[in-house]
Amino acid sequence: MDVARNFIISLQDYVNEACEGKPSWEIVLRTAIVTLLFVWSKNFLMKDESMIERAKKTVFRFARKLPMVQTKIAKEIEKVSVSMNDTMNKSIDYSSYITKLPETGWKIDKILEEAMKYSKYGHYKWETGCASGTVYNGDTILRDLTTEVYGIAAWANPLHADVFPGVRKMEAEVVRMTCSIFHGDSKSCGCVTSGGTESIILACKAYREFAREVKGIKNPELLVPITAHAAFDKAAQLLGIRIKRVPVNPVTMKVDVSAMKKMITSKTCMLAGSAPQFPHGVIDPIEEIGALGVQYNIPVHIDACLGGFLIAFMDKAGYPLAPFDFRVKGVTSISADTHKYGYAPKGTSILMYREDRFRHLQFFVTPDWPGGIYATATIAGSRSGGIIASCWAALVYHGLEGYVKHTKSIIETTRKIYHECSKIPGIFVYGEPEVSVVALGSNNFNIYTLGDAMTKRGWNLNALQFPSSVHIATTVLHTQPGVADRFISDVREIAEDMLKNPPKDAGASAAMYGMAASVPDRSVVCEMAWVYLDAVYSTDGGKTKSSDNQKREE
Ligand SMILES: *Cc1c(COP(=O)(O)O)cnc(C)c1O
Ligand SMILES: *[C@@H]1O[C@H](CO)[C@@H](O)[C@H](O)[C@H]1NC(C)=O
Ligand SMILES: *[C@@H]1O[C@H](CO)[C@@H](O)[C@H](O)[C@H]1NC(C)=O
Repeated sequence: MDVARNFIISLQDYVNEACEGKPSWEIVLRTAIVTLLFVWSKNFLMKDESMIERAKKTVFRFARKLPMVQTKIAKEIEKVSVSMNDTMNKSIDYSSYITKLPETGWKIDKILEEAMKYSKYGHYKWETGCASGTVYNGDTILRDLTTEVYGIAAWANPLHADVFPGVRKMEAEVVRMTCSIFHGDSKSCGCVTSGGTESIILACKAYREFAREVKGIKNPELLVPITAHAAFDKAAQLLGIRIKRVPVNPVTMKVDVSAMKKMITSKTCMLAGSAPQFPHGVIDPIEEIGALGVQYNIPVHIDACLGGFLIAFMDKAGYPLAPFDFRVKGVTSISADTHKYGYAPKGTSILMYREDRFRHLQFFVTPDWPGGIYATATIAGSRSGGIIASCWAALVYHGLEGYVKHTKSIIETTRKIYHECSKIPGIFVYGEPEVSVVALGSNNFNIYTLGDAMTKRGWNLNALQFPSSVHIATTVLHTQPGVADRFISDVREIAEDMLKNPPKDAGASAAMYGMAASVPDRSVVCEMAWVYLDAVYSTDGGKTKSSDNQKREE
């Protein structure tokens, strides 16, 4: 005690002496600066990126504060904003927006007529298979069926299992059927979420809780491949935990498991692998990741959101794969999207666990709320029973036979695209795509320019970065006669042309990704993305017309 007091007193003396005669503002300022410098240098030294990268970013960040630079950036962003808003405007034929509730309700005929008009905007004909991914099965019988079943349960709310026992039964059955597909035993369990993103967030939440409550880790960290879905970053941000990205082998694009092993620390709360990953359609070495999980006693999540409902049937379709599901020791959870290759309408994904102790940690329970003891399995409170029912309908409509049949033709089509595109001079395929995605790159020209040329021919492909690439995710729509052949011959023609006449002007996406890749301060890129998201909610279009509309309504 005394020692401590003496120490404090002498420290006080020292500080008083040091500050003698100095104005108090200076003392405050000095303290603030020293503290800031300390915190900043600590943060600076503790981060993982290379020093040079960070120095570059820091310089850029300071440069951004200069008025001249600020004006220039603001101008650029304004330009992007104008063009994005115009794109939105154009895509709805410059029609006016409804910005106020109509004074009196519309007649049913008018609502249906207008809704039909809205649904016809846009020039992409996704039914013909021009879009990568997006709609995974356009079968009209399936569309009518799921819509009808949606209607049957549209007003049910699974939050009230007592009022809607039928929807509860459907949801339980959807989870059980999916667990069996992925070789879960009777202890396996899961839940239906609103999509792949929610499944991933919830798995990360369960493992954060497991780390904190069971293992006593204060600051848990996620360890995921750089190619794993952005939903893991979203999860880390929402859950307030750190995410570390593991590099991949630049040739196979599979996660480097020995690098993953080296990055494991006492804080690691989860390892992840993708089956397959979104960018290049490559399956990470799941057995090796599972083995790491067993060795270090860390839970392992397999993100099979994209291709889960393909890989589960590939064996039966004649394309066997290395084990990726609960047969692999160490795999503790799997996410698989019914709203992708499960061919259900958007709004469902299945998150599965090997054991219910993890699921318990995912649940949300608050025992003391005046509104009652409140407990929900997922992020949502109230949900639509319709979306559960139509997911259930999609599963039982296809059955094992239906899924195997579609899987067979999708894999056949993808392998054809893969093999034919590999032969085209000027372009190459990333890794060895095993499932439904083929990612193209080029050493001879800007691959985004090929993407833009494909857009001109009616295709809608995905642009990827680091490394630059465009990809196609094949769906049932691409298995229609002639679609894959048209894709291959379009790529071949464009590549030939680009080799002969290297493009001088970059197209739209080429320009954007080129610009984005060259900016060291990613916050500028973030601002550009905000502009896009703002434009999505823009209702400023056709102001004059909208006042006409208002008059008409009144
Ligand atoms: C689509 C996808 C997700 C997330 O899916 P959403 O349903 O869009 O939220 C996660 N992982 C992979 C690999 C995906 O392709
Ligand atoms: C684009 O639209 C958004 C949303 O309405 C708006 O905030 C923004 O100012 C618009 N940009 C331009 C350049 O008009
Ligand atoms: C959309 O187009 C209209 C012209 O039809 C224009 O008045 C309006 O400013 C545009 N809106 C945006 C957000 O660009």
